[in-house]
Amino acid sequence: MRLRVNGRDWEVDAPPMARLLDVLRVQCELPGTKEGCGEGECGACTVLVDGEPVCSCLVPVAHADGAEVTTIEGLGGDHRLQRAFAEHGAAQCGICTPGMIMAALALPSSPSLDDVRVALAGNICRCTGYHAIYRAILRA
Ligand code: FES
Ligand code: FES
Repeated sequence: MRLRVNGRDWEVDAPPMARLLDVLRVQCELPGTKEGCGEGECGACTVLVDGEPVCSCLVPVAHADGAEVTTIEGLGGDHRLQRAFAEHGAAQCGICTPGMIMAALALPSSPSLDDVRVALAGNICRCTGYHAIYRAILRA
C-alpha cells in the first residue's frame, strides 16, 4: 500500500486491517499522533485523510491506500494553531492536543464558537477544560 504522509511517499508493508494510527507511529516514525481510548471515542488520534479529520485508531490502513495523510508533524511546529495553543494555555499533559489541532484545521476560516464546539465535539480533554482550547482556536 502507498500513503502520502505530510508530503512524503511511503510504501507500507502492513496487513490491510492494521490501524492507520500504528502505521503512522511505528512505520512512518511519526509519534505525534496519540492514542487515548483506542476505540473512536476521544479524538486523540485525529489526523486528516484527504483533508477530512478521522480517528486513525478506527481506520484500517487499507482505507488510506493512495490517500494524502496529514499528521501534527506536517504542521512543522510553528503553525498559528500550535502557537495559539501555547499562548493561551490550551494544553497541559498534551495528549489531546495534536488531535484537537488536527480537528480544528478542518474548520472553515473565521469559525464561530458554535462551529468550534461542533468540530471538536469528538475530542476529549481530561485536564485543560475546553474554554482555553476554544479561545486558542478562535484567536488562531
Ligand atoms: S484513540 Fe482514537 S478516538 Fe481515542
Ligand atoms: S491537555 Fe491533557 S488531555 Fe487535554
